[in-house]
Amino acid sequence: MDMKRRSFLTGSALLTVSGIVPVASGMLPSEQAAHDKYKATVVPPPGKLLDSEPLLQVPAPDSVGVSFAVNALAVGYAQVADNPEMKNAKQFVCEGMPLAEIHDRVLRVRMDGLKPATKYWYRIGAAAVTYPVGYWMKPSPIEWGGVHSFTTPGEAAASHFMVMNDTHAQWKPFAMVTDKMRELQAPVTIWNGDATNTSRTLEDNVKIFLKPGSGTGYGADTAILFNNGNHDFRGQANIYLDQVLMTRLPSERSPRDWALKRNFAIRQGDIALIGLDTGEDKPDFHPAAGGATRFEPYREAQVPWLEDQFKRPEIAQAPFVVAFVHIPIFDPDPNANPGTLLEDYATWQKQAAELWGPVLTRNGVQLVIAAHQHRYRFDPVLPGRSWAQIVGGGPSVNVADTKHFPTVIEGKVADGKLRIIVHDVLKKQIAGEFSFDPRKA
Ligand SMILES: [Fe+2]
Ligand SMILES: [Fe+2]
Repeated sequence: MDMKRRSFLTGSALLTVSGIVPVASGMLPSEQAAHDKYKATVVPPPGKLLDSEPLLQVPAPDSVGVSFAVNALAVGYAQVADNPEMKNAKQFVCEGMPLAEIHDRVLRVRMDGLKPATKYWYRIGAAAVTYPVGYWMKPSPIEWGGVHSFTTPGEAAASHFMVMNDTHAQWKPFAMVTDKMRELQAPVTIWNGDATNTSRTLEDNVKIFLKPGSGTGYGADTAILFNNGNHDFRGQANIYLDQVLMTRLPSERSPRDWALKRNFAIRQGDIALIGLDTGEDKPDFHPAAGGATRFEPYREAQVPWLEDQFKRPEIAQAPFVVAFVHIPIFDPDPNANPGTLLEDYATWQKQAAELWGPVLTRNGVQLVIAAHQHRYRFDPVLPGRSWAQIVGGGPSVNVADTKHFPTVIEGKVADGKLRIIVHDVLKKQIAGEFSFDPRKA
């Protein structure tokens, strides 16, 4: 029907010129007038519709998402190609079926059908949307951004990752962290939570993720795997964080696990990266939750998901497995706050530790990387526990405070071992270096 109308529009223009009334179509004069008005409406190309650099996210071996800010109601696009000239590029429109999710501030596009461990070039685009006739939508010409690149994960990809955490919308440490990441050039970034403080409006999250006060373009050429921190659950806008940060594809998991929107388990070369969400740092009965949180069942729901990941051959056979949590799942201090009390807040997350810790050990996971404490720490392997734990630091940039500094934790495989380097990005030195042997799959 759409095609018929479009060819009729062309035909009717000719008929009008020659003075013949287009009765053959059966179109009412009022409808013809609408078509004429729609066709005659010129949508001027907007000056600066794109309002941020692209943020690559939710990388998978065969897909990657991108979100970006715009200045007006628009439909978003991404083009992806196997060459920097963008020849034979494949074009994608905003995610959403049947309606592409157009928006006036943030657009999200998923590029799929990709090959694992493959370098691609891409660019984002947007077309302003107007409604010249009732609900009939007419887009402007597309405004394109610059060409960037990424490499999809997979078993043949580089065994290399980097971790940022607890930036808390503080732009000095954010600059230090993103400068370091630009230098390291790992193909994937795990953003291990507490990106936000309390986000009340969508604009709060636009400023944090898409238009940060430093590090512009930090996610344009390296995709982020975002793992929630406790702060990323605070404020009305964080209920709708999906507006800015895309979630994993439902096809990646069993319907039982569809509520677990951000948990990830992917192979980055010889390393399996697993993301687990520790949630808030207070129990569900705490008044701060207002009776409106379900973190305890949420942690329980991640157990069967986690167990199933180790049944996937590419995860089961990975030489190295690193799990990421925001709140540590171990604390050497027996009096440390376990996050189950009314008093104060979690230093570590006891429920998650009890639920997930044994699964990680049973599967020979070598390392857990945590955050939340704002102070770098290494917890070695213990008898009966396969994994060591590294806690990343941040966001203090006070050099007089020698205990607190922001970190970038880098992991890469060299000579058959997983080498972890904890970069102190404040004093620009290495805070810790560790080496892990392959697991017995
Ligand atoms: Fe934090
Ligand atoms: Fe935290």
